[in-house]
Amino acid sequence: MIKKTKTTYPINNLVEQRWSNRAFSPQIVETEKLNSILEAATWAPSAFNEQPWRFIVGQKGSETYSKILNTLVEWNQKWASNANVLILNIAKKNFSKNDNFNPTFEYDLGQAVAFMALETVNQGLFSHQMTGFDPVKAATDFGLDDGFKVVSVIAIGYYGDAKELPTDMLESETAIRERKDFKSLVLNGDFDILENPTLF
Ligand SMILES: Cc1cc2nc3c(=O)[nH]c(=O)nc-3n(C[C@H](O)[C@H](O)[C@H](O)COP(=O)(O)O)c2cc1C
Repeated sequence: MIKKTKTTYPINNLVEQRWSNRAFSPQIVETEKLNSILEAATWAPSAFNEQPWRFIVGQKGSETYSKILNTLVEWNQKWASNANVLILNIAKKNFSKNDNFNPTFEYDLGQAVAFMALETVNQGLFSHQMTGFDPVKAATDFGLDDGFKVVSVIAIGYYGDAKELPTDMLESETAIRERKDFKSLVLNGDFDILENPTLF
């Protein structure tokens, strides 16, 4: 299901075609594809090449999958339970080389998950990130220590049947993707956008 994306300027297909779906098919995600998706994540840049990301991968039918699913808020469980793969996205807080706090640990994880999301498109798959989950429960259930933070969950799978979604979800599933106006986000001067807009 490709959504038409109205961009201001031309962009590559992977960014243009990625969107956060909720209709997932029961079709199993091939291990090779899943490995490529995770491999892409590991090639994200990170401060001092720390690579603070860690991923706990649950494939449907496994105990890991059920444990991740149980951390999601009810609304997310409704649709994410159809996705074939659920991944817990975790970041290490301190640098490994000196144990100093890494101020970009979550930023770096975010980049890795973005790479993951783009590779899902490349593999003909779909993904949907979530922070509607209980990170404390996730940390406890998976035995994380304080050195790590569970930041988000991503659902991955093949596209399903949108008609099977509840009405409220169907609406956003078929809606045109929206973004704030490019000019209101990209500045070329002081940040005082209300008083003195200096935009591209
Ligand atoms: C960090 C993060 C957390 C999100 N949390 C949720 C969530 O808990 N439930 C949900 O349905 N969508 C969630 N989303 C999806 C966003 O709503 C979605 O990315 C946004 O509306 C833009 O739509 P698009 O991804 O289709 O372009 C989340 C996305 C991100 C990046």
